[in-house]
Parts: sequence; C-alpha cells; structure tokens
Amino acid sequence: MTVSSLSALSREPLLVGICLQRQSASLALLKESRTFAVSVLTASQAEPARRFADPQRPRGRAQFDLVDWEPDPYSGAPLIADALSWLSCRLVTTAAAGDHELLLAEVVEGVARDGHPLLNFGGAMAAVTTLEAAAPPAHRATPDLSTVAVDTPLTRCEGESG
Ligand SMILES: Cc1cc2nc3c(=O)[nH]c(=O)nc-3n(C[C@H](O)[C@H](O)[C@H](O)COP(=O)(O)O)c2cc1C
Repeated sequence: MTVSSLSALSREPLLVGICLQRQSASLALLKESRTFAVSVLTASQAEPARRFADPQRPRGRAQFDLVDWEPDPYSGAPLIADALSWLSCRLVTTAAAGDHELLLAEVVEGVARDGHPLLNFGGAMAAVTTLEAAAPPAHRATPDLSTVAVDTPLTRCEGESG
C-alpha cells in the first residue's frame, strides 16, 4: 500500500513510524507477519504510488505484476525496482492513533540510492526539482533517514497475503 509519510523516530536503534487506517487490509497483514519492506519511490514512480493506493487493486503477489521487484532478503516482501531507498523492517509495537494505528518498526537493513523523491502535496504527486543532490550515504547498510522527506509517498509492501 502507499503511505504518505514515514517518520524517522530514533537513530539508535534505528526506528521509523508509519500510520495506517484501522480498516486497512495491509495493516492486518503487517501485524500478522511482524516484518515488512518499504520502498521509497522516486519522482518517476507516481504510477505505482497511485496503483498501490487503490483499494480495488489485486491482492497478494498479483498486485506487483506491473512493476519490477525483487524479494527482500529479510522479510521476503517485494522491493520495488529502482526505488530511492529500501528498508527492511521489523514491527516493534503499535499504538492507537484516532482512526489510525501508529506502527513503530526497527530498520534491520537498508539500501539508499541517489535520486529525487516522489512527493505528495495538496493531493498531487510532485517532484522537487530544486533539491540539491544529497551527499552519498557513508555506507549503504543503514541509510540516513533524515534525507527521506516526511511527505515522501512510499509503498509499503506486505509479505505474502494469499
Ligand atoms: C499519496 C497517498 C498517501 C497515502 N497515505 C496513507 C497513509 O499514510 N496511511 C494510510 O492508511 N493510507 C494512506 N493512503 C491510502 C492507502 O494507500 C489506500 O487506502 C490503500 O488502499 C490501503 O491499502 P489496503 O487496501 O491494502 O489497506 C495514501 C494514499 C495516497 C494516494
């Protein structure tokens, strides 16, 4: 599914937070599997961002038929090809947040690439063309999440959903 923000919560351990609607089918899957993968999309990936936000999309692996992907070595969940960043996550805890649920997860592994993120502003997908290239990460095992904009749409790919 597509989510609008991923918040960097802690550096040591490396923790991130996402907020999912209570009725989300993906939320139930994620709470069951306890592991998941995040693909932070690039400015040229608005189409998959829209597709993974469609509640009528096919379920399970079929929803990934129109994108190139590879399995996350940690969670087995699909990682979308050419994404700006990949995060392998382990669910740590959840908390009620109104009609949403806040999920706190540890980033177990990560990959970061150069490029421009896909943004969501005012209901539209956008790219920031004035963004200066960020310094390359010191190492690629643990990406610096401060370079991921809070409003970056990203697609969280749940594990097997049948
Ligand atoms: C740009 C964008 C951002 C979104 N952000 C969120 C979000 O942060 N949390 C959420 O629960 N749904 C969000 N959605 C809606 C879900 O992607 C959508 O409801 C999706 O169908 C949920 O997946 P599910 O059907 O597997 O539950 C967003 C949609 C778009 C287009």
